[in-house]
Parts: sequence; C-alpha cells; structure tokens
Amino acid sequence: MGRLLFIKSIEGRILAGITMFVGMMILVGWVAINEEARMQSFVRQHTGRSIERGAELFASLCSECHGEEGYGADNRAPGLNNPHLFGFDPVGLQTAAVTSANRTLVRLNKETEKLVAELTNAENPPSAERQNEIIAAIAELEAQIEEQQLAIEAAVAERIAILGTLDKAVDNGLFPQWETIEDSDRTADNEVEVFFNTNGTRLAQVGWAGDLHGYVVTTLIHGRPGSARVYPSGTGMAAWSQTAGGPLRQDQIEDLAAYILNYDKGANWTTEDFLAVAQYGKPLADGSLPTEPPPPPAGDNVLGILARWQADEIVGSPVSGELLYDAEFGCTDCHRNGSSAPDTVGTFTRVSTERLTLPQFAGYSVEQYLVESITRPGDYVVDTYSSGLMPANFGVRMTDQQLADIVSYLLTQE
Ligand code: HEC
Ligand code: HEC
Repeated sequence: MGRLLFIKSIEGRILAGITMFVGMMILVGWVAINEEARMQSFVRQHTGRSIERGAELFASLCSECHGEEGYGADNRAPGLNNPHLFGFDPVGLQTAAVTSANRTLVRLNKETEKLVAELTNAENPPSAERQNEIIAAIAELEAQIEEQQLAIEAAVAERIAILGTLDKAVDNGLFPQWETIEDSDRTADNEVEVFFNTNGTRLAQVGWAGDLHGYVVTTLIHGRPGSARVYPSGTGMAAWSQTAGGPLRQDQIEDLAAYILNYDKGANWTTEDFLAVAQYGKPLADGSLPTEPPPPPAGDNVLGILARWQADEIVGSPVSGELLYDAEFGCTDCHRNGSSAPDTVGTFTRVSTERLTLPQFAGYSVEQYLVESITRPGDYVVDTYSSGLMPANFGVRMTDQQLADIVSYLLTQE
C-alpha cells in the first residue's frame, strides 16, 4: 500500500498530490535549466576520457618512435608535441606589427602627397596663411612617418632576434628549405620570407588543404608509404587502421587524434617548445600523402542523422543552407511560389502548425520532419501533390553538414 494512505482525509491527499506535482514541475524545470551546463560538462568529460584512452595507446604503440613526450626522435619520427605542427608562428606578433605599420605608412604618404600637390599648385596657389598651415601639417605627417618607420625597424630586428634563438630547432629540421638556398642569398630577411611563405606550418609544408584533425586521422589510417626511406633510423609510419590491415579500430584512432590535438597550446607556445622538439617533419616521400576521403553522405536514417548531429556537434548554417538550397541542389526550382511544390516561404510555420498536428507525426520535432521530408520524401506526401515528384536521392547526395545547413535555412522560413 502506498504511503499516501497514511494521509487520512481526501483533502489531505489532494493537497499531497498537488505538492508532489508542483515538486515534480520544479524538478523538471531545474533539469531543463541545467541541461545546457550538463551537456557541456558531459562533452568535457567525454573528451577527457577520449584523451586519456589516447594517452594509453600512445604510450604503448607510438612513443617508441615519437618519444614519450611526443618530441620525436632523430631520423626516426617527427615531433607531434610541436608548435610547427600546430601552425604556431613564433614571430606572428612582429609580422602583424610590420603589416599594420606599412598600412599606416601608405595612408600617411598619400596625405602628404595631397598637401604637397596643393602647396605647389601653380594655377591655383594657396594663400600665404594656407601655405603656412600646409607646411605645418606636412611637418607633422613627416614626424608620424618616421615613427612608423622606426616601428617597422624595431619589429624586423625583433623578428630576426627571435629566429636567431631558433637555431637549434633549424638544426633539428625546422625549416628544411634553408638548405636549398644559396649561401650568398641567405639574409635575415629572406629567412623570414621563406619560413613564412613556404614553411610556416607543417600543413603548408606538405600541402595539406584540410585541417589538422583530418591530417592526423588520415596519417594514422593510411600510414606513410615510403617514410622509412626518409627516416632511416626507424621503420617508417605504418597504416594503423583495421580498414588498412592495421590493429586499431576507428574509435581508437579518434582517441589518439584527441590525445595529439591536446598538445596544442594555442597562442602560448614558446621558444623552449620549439627547442624541445628533437626532430621536425621532413618533406614527404613521393606519393605518401593520401588526400582526405570525402565525408560520407547523410543517408536516409532520420534518427541516425539527428543522433550524429548531436554527437558530432554539427550545427547548421542558414547562410550556407540558402546557397545549397538555391544553387547547388536546385530546391528553389520546384519550391518557388508553391506552384509545383510547397512554397519555401512559410515552411517552418506550415510544418509546426499544420504537419506536426497530424497523428503520424506525434512526437516529431520540426527538424525531424524536415530531415525526413528531404531524405525520404516518399514516406509522407503533402496533399494535393503527387508522390515521386520530389527527388528521393538527396540523402546520398549531401553530407550531414549540408543537410544540417539546409534544415537550419528552412527553420528561418516563417
Ligand atoms: C616505427 C616508428 C613509428 C611508430 C611506431 C609510429 N610512427 Fe608516426 N610517424 C613515423 C614517421 C617516420 C613519420 C613521418 C612520416 C612522413 O613524414 O612521411 C610519422 C608521422 C606521424 C604523424 C604525422 C606527423 C607529421 O608531421 O607529418 C602522426 C600524426 C603520427 N605519426 C602519429 C603516430 C601515432 C599516433 C602512432 C601510434 C599509433 C605512431 N605515429 C607510431 C614513425 C612512427
Ligand atoms: C522536382 C521538384 C522538387 C525538387 C527539386 C525538390 N523538391 Fe521538395 N518537394 C517537392 C514536392 C512536389 C513536394 C510535395 C510532395 C511531397 O511531400 O513529396 C516536396 C516537399 C518538400 C518538403 C515538405 C514540405 C512541406 O510543406 O511539408 C520539404 C521540406 C522539401 N520538399 C525540401 C526540399 C529540399 C531541401 C530540396 C532540395 C535539396 C527539394 N525539396 C527539392 C518537389 C521538389
């Protein structure tokens, strides 16, 4: 028998019921309010565990070549705990200062030229008073120009000094192009130039167009055929993925990638970090770099798609969505004005106030309805239109991201 029976009177039981109901509502509200914070801490914990698992795998499988702390080993494997791999620019601040001073210089020079032209205009000579004003203004501009020139000199000197402290890193392979430049052509200035234009980051050096996560994962999956020739003290980078005959599952590869990406210090890398790297990445053996495989299509498993969006934190962009909708997939061709298909304008309102009130869509969110309409148009055909008009293959033609973009665009169509 339930506890409520101890409360004798009917009124008492009603009151207890109300109290419990109110309590439940408060609890539900509290959970809802905290959901965002909970999700964030869940994501953090999840990432944290992935990094931990990656650390264990790294210690047992990778440290033999890449070093326990990821600094690499001479002629055996490149450092991964490595500012160059993460694209950190040791003289970024100085380079930015030079660029900004140069921009100011251009402006100051233009202003000066204009005043000189006015001063020396023979057809329409300025009054004596104006002449004095112009001369004073030019003197002021010249002082500012000199200030900018000094700023540039200082930044360049600092840049050269910083690069000077990286000599040992250059010996360990940072900046391999250096060897290919004639001695007579090596000046402190072109050191800077070559470093940043061709070798500023590892990804630029190897010509990888994707991001670092893709680079690491792809390297782990496929290995680097021919790398043993380039790194003669070791046996080269093998293919680790089970899909390529190696020992690791995809989730283990992701754990390792999370561990490696966690070396990143963002803007806080230092000269010491550059000096700690024992071996920098070398130019690759021919043909050893596979291109990143295209992302898989979204498919037509509606709940699976929604779950992946959440798990992979895929967020749609309405701006890209509109472009995809208008141009790439030609949705607008049919959905304009509502003559041959439901009008794009009002999609959100129509779905939320009409479609979702239909019994078969009980429990659907607007997103779920839209994903289903786009990837499985045959499942429900809007009245007054015949089935089979809306192409059924969009699920295999678009990626998760593209689909999310399009859906987020349709959500703006009130
Ligand atoms: C037998 C030595 C060896 C082992 C073990 C090894 N690697 Fe490598 N790894 C290399 C070499 C050599 C390269 C450079 C390949 C190249 O440049 O073509 C490399 C390259 C890489 C790169 C790309 C770095 C860059 O700058 O291009 C990553 C990331 C990487 N390895 C991760 C790992 C992980 C994670 C493991 C453990 C599962 C591992 N490696 C195990 C030798 C090894
Ligand atoms: C060849 C014409 C055609 C093209 C191209 C087309 N559709 Fe459709 N679409 C239709 C028709 C007809 C319907 C209504 C019949 C149905 O439900 O299948 C429809 C229905 C829909 C619905 C449901 C609308 C509602 O009010 O319930 C959505 C959402 C939708 N389409 C999105 C898209 C998107 C996104 C694209 C592009 C990726 C696209 N359509 C391309 C013809 C088209």
